[in-house]
Amino acid sequence: MNFQLTEEHLMIQKAARDFANETLKAGVIERDELQKFPKEEIKKLGELGFMGMMVSPEYGGGGMDTVSYVLAMEEISKIDASVSVCMSVNNSLVCWGLENFGTEEQKRKYLVPLAKGEIIGAFLLSEPEAGSDATSQHTTAIPKGDKYILNGTKNWITNGNSASVYLVIAQSYPDKKHKGINAFIVEKNSKGVVVGKKENKLGIRGSDTHSIMFTDVEVPAENRIGEDGFGFKFAMKTLSGGRIGIASQALGIASGAYELALAYSKERKAFGVPISQHQAIQFKLADMATQIDAARLLCLKAAWLKDQHLDYTQAGAMAKVFASKVAMDTTTEAVQIHGGYGYVKEYHVERLMRDAKITQIYEGTTEVQKIVISRGVLTA
Ligand code: CAA
Repeated sequence: MNFQLTEEHLMIQKAARDFANETLKAGVIERDELQKFPKEEIKKLGELGFMGMMVSPEYGGGGMDTVSYVLAMEEISKIDASVSVCMSVNNSLVCWGLENFGTEEQKRKYLVPLAKGEIIGAFLLSEPEAGSDATSQHTTAIPKGDKYILNGTKNWITNGNSASVYLVIAQSYPDKKHKGINAFIVEKNSKGVVVGKKENKLGIRGSDTHSIMFTDVEVPAENRIGEDGFGFKFAMKTLSGGRIGIASQALGIASGAYELALAYSKERKAFGVPISQHQAIQFKLADMATQIDAARLLCLKAAWLKDQHLDYTQAGAMAKVFASKVAMDTTTEAVQIHGGYGYVKEYHVERLMRDAKITQIYEGTTEVQKIVISRGVLTA
């Protein structure tokens, strides 16, 4: 077994780290405070090829592997998790879903500009009454001639206002339960699409989270993804990979907080010495470093399995459960090490602590991940 990253991996990691430090760091506190979507920053991220990293060059992407994606997600998330969630949804839900299940026409029309970062996509599964229980879709897409008529409301949609293209999951044949669910490509500017209120969130406040309403929206049948009734499987398969992205985001939030705490502990003096010389702080740093390394190994293992075309659903869920807990624990300890300074915005760790929480909630709560893991364990 070889734990060495390749030259190419190291180059991608450095490019993401440099971008995060040079372009994201300066404005991150202000964007968080003002809930300002990082429009220009995402545009630059797209120009560097990070918005469609894993898409084949044939469709405008970077042709990189999932390991590279984990490395880049960690670096971006260390500095700005509001940027990395946009990057993650675009890469692993929208682009991956279209590349793997879209038609050639759908790929040419939508995947190419998404992968190049010219436009942004969003993934619309959650509803007011369908969060963890994703089969319980109330949004309907009823077939009518060569169209489907879409009605309903989606909630908690990342990139809700900034996206031009939505992948929408909706029920077409309610009596067939999850086998009647479809997935569609819906353009945001279609007649009958209304972007609802922007959520005022605890964390990832720069990201753009909205409810989206559909009233008699006509969706051409050619915009359905996959066979009739494939929508639930499409959502599950796509989320299996998406969870590797969010696990890496959690890892980055944790390692960002750890690096800040480590540096601070060497500068801050108490009782005549830097606090890093006190065992109480050393034990905290040792625990943080160990937990982060374990989280990173789980993320990279899930990514490696995906790159080898092996089953990665369970590994991705394990990485997400573990890394998101590490993100909560590590950011909390980072605030503690900073003492009073940790509780104010200038020192970044309070934001990382607020950002960490969402990684235990979106793309499947910790409880949902444990359902996925236990099913794998019980059928092994
Ligand atoms: N891959 C492929 N197929 C899968 C699958 C997977 N990972 N998981 C389930 N399926 C298939 C099953 O095999 C089954 O197929 P058959 O009918 O042919 O047998 C079908 O899907 C139904 O599966 P289940 O019986 O397992 O379904 P369930 O109702 O028990 O649900 C669940 C399982 C894991 C709880 C699922 O509902 C789930 O993942 N819920 C969480 C939803 C979620 O993650 N939401 C996140 C929203 S997106 C987001 O947050 C993006 C963002 O903005 C950041």
